[in-house]
Amino acid sequence: MSDKRMDYKQSEINFQSILADPMQMFANWYDEVQKSGAIAEPYAMHLSTVGVDGYPRSRVVLLKEFNELGYVFYTNYNSQKGKAIAKDPRVCLSFFWDKLERQVIIKGLAEKLSHGQSEEYFNKRPLESQIGAIVSDQSSVIGFETDLSAESKILQEEYKHRKICMPGHWGGYLVKALEIEFWQGRPGRLHDRLRYKLESGRWLTERLAP
Ligand SMILES: Cc1cc2nc3c(=O)[nH]c(=O)nc-3n(C[C@H](O)[C@H](O)[C@H](O)COP(=O)(O)O)c2cc1C
Repeated sequence: MSDKRMDYKQSEINFQSILADPMQMFANWYDEVQKSGAIAEPYAMHLSTVGVDGYPRSRVVLLKEFNELGYVFYTNYNSQKGKAIAKDPRVCLSFFWDKLERQVIIKGLAEKLSHGQSEEYFNKRPLESQIGAIVSDQSSVIGFETDLSAESKILQEEYKHRKICMPGHWGGYLVKALEIEFWQGRPGRLHDRLRYKLESGRWLTERLAP
């Protein structure tokens, strides 16, 4: 891999006409990525947390919504990430949209959505996914012989004609951004980086060296 090199030249950030609102900038970039059709799951993002052991840990989760309040994903509150966030809500989200040579890094604070908000989303999920949230005690150690799909099938039969309730350990988080950095690959490793920082309720903009 040491001799593999890509030159990035698809686009650039125009520092002369920066949008005041980073969420609008994110929406524009996301829209372009989605329209390009080049990224299979543009809504897949890395979520990094500070673990209860003090180590950082990153994993992929799916962004389900973003708006002026922040970024929403769903998970099991008892998972490693759930326990990490309960102890320390400081998180990082990052997207790498390789075909468009773009990266976005978001620093923020995660907070649980209300039960009602999570339930609204849970009720829209396919039965199989709803049951997945019940069957899997996410991040716990399980026996090698455990047959989760058999357990899921039994429950799918059971709930075919019954309303399924969202388990209390499942729900969403809203990540409220404090900093958002946009990175656009440029030729010769002279990439464009634009950082928005929230200070006293206002977004400050800074250009960073590549
Ligand atoms: C493409 C992709 C999407 C994923 N989406 C989610 C998700 O939305 N929520 C979730 O809890 N886990 C999701 N996962 C699984 C997580 O990466 C991770 O394995 C799981 O949440 C347990 O993480 P933890 O033990 O650090 O809490 C996804 C994994 C991949 C590769």
